[in-house]
Amino acid sequence: MDAPRLMHTARDGVALRAHLLHLSREDRHTRFGHYATDDTIGRYVDRLVERGDTVLLHDDPAQPGRVIAALHLAVLDDGIAEIGISVEREFRGHSYARRLIDAAGVLAFCIGIKRLRVVVDPNNRPMIALAERCGFVLAHSDIGELSGDRPLHAASAFTAGWVWWLSRLWSADGLQRFSSWRPANDSDHDSTPYTSAANR
Ligand SMILES: CC(C)(COP(=O)(O)OP(=O)(O)OC[C@H]1O[C@@H](n2cnc3c(N)ncnc32)[C@H](O)[C@@H]1OP(=O)(O)O)[C@@H](O)C(=O)NCCC(=O)NCCS
Repeated sequence: MDAPRLMHTARDGVALRAHLLHLSREDRHTRFGHYATDDTIGRYVDRLVERGDTVLLHDDPAQPGRVIAALHLAVLDDGIAEIGISVEREFRGHSYARRLIDAAGVLAFCIGIKRLRVVVDPNNRPMIALAERCGFVLAHSDIGELSGDRPLHAASAFTAGWVWWLSRLWSADGLQRFSSWRPANDSDHDSTPYTSAANR
């Protein structure tokens, strides 16, 4: 299976930064909720690496180590994990995002997370379609923000393919470190128009 892997080395951090810097101005806006500059992206990746946040990476199948899609799983303290996701333009429409979200759900379920959450720019039609395709129920908040949750279940986590993937992560990526997961919403962060935890 062409599957995501976990970010866990300094080199992965460099590859993630290169992936995010590849995003166009508009894509940065839909991903981060603001027109993130190169510096902002650099600081964001530094924080993820420093905190040991959970990030799933998808490599270019033709170029292992070159990240073409990524998902940040920001664990909140109420048993919910929020996702922030990006796929480079030339790799879109090949289910990379769907696989990353499914993988994030499996991983999150295994550490007792009950729901995944996504916060979406209301004009971001691809992400809205993707979220609905992945089972998120989206709704507008009073302040016009669009967000939704997807409940996590054992039945979707423990299919043969995903158990195999988890076992591979365990040996290759040091899954043990998840025992030290902590909420991502208590650290210093740049102020952005979004309240999204997956942007910090
Ligand atoms: C949104 C985004 C992650 C989708 O990535 P992707 O790899 O193209 O998505 P997938 O190929 O996995 O699509 C899965 C499903 O999403 C839906 N979808 C994705 N892009 C779509 C589009 N442009 N139009 C309609 N539906 C779309 C489809 O239902 C698709 O299901 P299918 O494969 O059965 O047709 C990508 O466009 C992106 O990186 N955008 C910029 C950053 C961003 O907006 N991030 C979201 C902030 S959290």
